[in-house]
Amino acid sequence: MKWLDHVEKTVPVIQITELVWKAVNCMKSASLNELPVLSGQTFSGILHAKDLLNSDPNNSIKEYIDKDCCTINGTEELYFLPFYNHQLLPVINDGIYHGCISRNTLHRLFYNELSQVILSGGSSRDGLTAPQKTNNTKRSSKVIGHSQKMKEIFDIVHYVAPSDSTVLLLGASGVGKEVIAKMLHENSCRKKELFMKVNCGAIPPHLLESELFGYEQGAFTGAKRGGKLGIFEMASGGTLFLDEIGDLPLDMQVKLLRVLQEQEIMRVGGLQIINVNVRIIAATNRNLERMVEEGTFRTDLYYRLNIVPIKIPLLRERKDDILPLLNYFLMEFNAKYNCMKRFSKQAVQQLMSYPFPGNVRELSNIVERLVLTSRSDVIESCQLPKQVLTYLKRESGPPDQENKSMDTLALHWNTFGQGDNLFDYLEKEALIRTLKKYGSVRKAGTAIGVPHTTVFQKMKKYGVTLKAIR
Ligand SMILES: Nc1ncnc2c1ncn2[C@@H]1O[C@H](COP(=O)(O)OP(=O)(O)O)[C@@H](O)[C@H]1O
Ligand SMILES: [Mg+2]
Repeated sequence: MKWLDHVEKTVPVIQITELVWKAVNCMKSASLNELPVLSGQTFSGILHAKDLLNSDPNNSIKEYIDKDCCTINGTEELYFLPFYNHQLLPVINDGIYHGCISRNTLHRLFYNELSQVILSGGSSRDGLTAPQKTNNTKRSSKVIGHSQKMKEIFDIVHYVAPSDSTVLLLGASGVGKEVIAKMLHENSCRKKELFMKVNCGAIPPHLLESELFGYEQGAFTGAKRGGKLGIFEMASGGTLFLDEIGDLPLDMQVKLLRVLQEQEIMRVGGLQIINVNVRIIAATNRNLERMVEEGTFRTDLYYRLNIVPIKIPLLRERKDDILPLLNYFLMEFNAKYNCMKRFSKQAVQQLMSYPFPGNVRELSNIVERLVLTSRSDVIESCQLPKQVLTYLKRESGPPDQENKSMDTLALHWNTFGQGDNLFDYLEKEALIRTLKKYGSVRKAGTAIGVPHTTVFQKMKKYGVTLKAIR
């Protein structure tokens, strides 16, 4: 993106030697609240209309110039351009004035850039039948994805959205499973119908069946008169998003499978079969394959749901998305809280090296909190939340005590047999610390590069048990 091409050279300027009335006339005719002030070609500052109110028209403009205004030098990346409070952002190189970029232009550039990575339903792939394009993807559901990995996901979404196939969204908490589920709905022919979400883990198991399938009058004590419509019936014609599907109790798994296969339900206490027409999108952050092996998730349901699996990667596995997401949320929260905060370059760089264990949700929360709590317009790196600062400190600092003792441990084990009491003492300490950190004998062995049998021998030698140290 060459934002420099959008610098406006025709914005009127005023020379520092001019008088107030001339500046006012100039602002009026150009409908500007600000004017760049020059001394020859050298930039002197910005003149704000509000500062000229009640001034003597014959005064010199010199005393009204804002010399500390925000400027840029033209070498910045679009994403690093500051958000600023005024209409104009002057471009100054070595003190020489080059032109201005207006706030509207800058916002338009940002949005253009972002919209390139928002699924608009317009991708095309040779060799595949292009599904009907939905060019009117709602603006309200912005999904940012700049990385190759997200673009691949958008491609899949684009092709499967118009079909009625079941989609299984996999990925850790906060990676954007729900966002993709909504995107699938909004780009399907069901988009005018309901998108309903059920958190399978949040509804108490004994209520789940009546919530999903509804009940007939008198089905159980406390049942409402006239019965109750279930979520499946309500969502009929639309999309049902079954979130946290891994938390669905086994008995409900059987019932869900039946609905998926037959597209029909029976209300609790009812005798009548009711046809439903819902598209199912399921999501989980759990490892369903392992659950199938352990017998906690039904194999048949797993295969029925796993028709189009989409795995959304962790944010740290798609670092190219961090900057666009930071900018996106900054704009969103600036607009929401009516402010103009921006990040210092260093703060952005530090955030980009942070691994975001809470994924996009954590990033969004961090930006919201900073926009709300930062007193200055520029959010500096020292204001970043504790978890980010602690991480950065740990990464840049010398190896911590724990790691040092692990090196020592590995070293001593390599030369085992030459130990004295001090050696034994250190070795035992290191053994305990490593077991505490990794939680199992095997993992501890892998971490320090020795077979787990060696770790067992050492545990036996020093009388260390996992139970005692946990
Ligand atoms: N690619 C994205 N673009 C914009 N916002 C996103 C994106 N991914 C996630 N979010 C936001 O992050 C938060 C968590 O996303 P969500 O879909 O609820 O994650 P999950 O369901 O995987 O836990 C939401 O506020 C969502 O709007
Ligand atoms: Mg979720």
